[in-house]
Amino acid sequence: MGKKIDLEGGLMLAPVPVVLVACSHEELGMNVFTIAWCGVDCSKPPIIHISIRPDRFSYRMIKESGVFTVNLPTSDMVEKVDICGNISGAERNKFELAGLTPVPARLVTAPLIAECPVNLECELIKIEPLGLHDMFLGEVVARHVDESVSTGGRADWSRIPLISYVDGEYWSLGERIGEYGCSKKNI
Ligand SMILES: Cc1cc2nc3c(=O)[nH]c(=O)nc-3n(C[C@H](O)[C@H](O)[C@H](O)COP(=O)(O)O)c2cc1C
Repeated sequence: MGKKIDLEGGLMLAPVPVVLVACSHEELGMNVFTIAWCGVDCSKPPIIHISIRPDRFSYRMIKESGVFTVNLPTSDMVEKVDICGNISGAERNKFELAGLTPVPARLVTAPLIAECPVNLECELIKIEPLGLHDMFLGEVVARHVDESVSTGGRADWSRIPLISYVDGEYWSLGERIGEYGCSKKNI
C-alpha cells in the first residue's frame, strides 16, 4: 500500500450485509424493510442490532411489538431488497409488491421471509438513540436455515451468496477464503 488519502470522519466500514427486517403490529399489520446498518454485538446472550431512522413506518411497529426478524437475502433477490428499501409500508404492501412470502416464526409474532435462506427471530432488548438512527438491540431467540443450503445443521455459506451494501452499491459475497485459525500453521 502507498500513501493514504486523509478524509473526514464518516462511514467506511465494508462490507456490511443487507438484511430484510420483518415486523408485525396489532393495528398496523405486517411489514418488511431493508436495513444495511446492522451487526453483531454479543455472543452470549446472542445479541445483534439494527439501526432505524425514527421516520420509518417500521420504527413504531418494532418499538411497540417488541420483536422483529432479520432475514438474509441472496444476490438473486437484489431487486426485492431495493423495493423494500425505497417504498414505505405506510403506502404499499411490500410483501405483495416484491413477491416475498411471510411465514409464521416459532417464538415471535413478526413473520419470517420464506425466500430468505437464513432467518433470525429477535426480541427487542433496548433502543439506543444515536443521532439520525436509533440502535435497536435484539436477542436472537431462534434461528432457521433452509435445508437446501445447510450441511450438518449449519449454514453452508458457499451456497448463500449474501448481499453487501457499499457506497450506494450492492455487491455479492460468496467465496470461502479461509476458516477460523487458518493463520496457525504459519505462526
Ligand atoms: C440498501 C438499503 C439499506 C438501507 N438501510 C437502512 C438502515 O440501515 N436503516 C434505516 O432506517 N433505513 C434504511 N434504509 C431505508 C429503508 O429501508 C426505507 O426507508 C424503507 O422504505 C422503510 O420502510 P418502512 O417505511 O416500510 O419502514 C435502507 C434502504 C436501502 C435501499
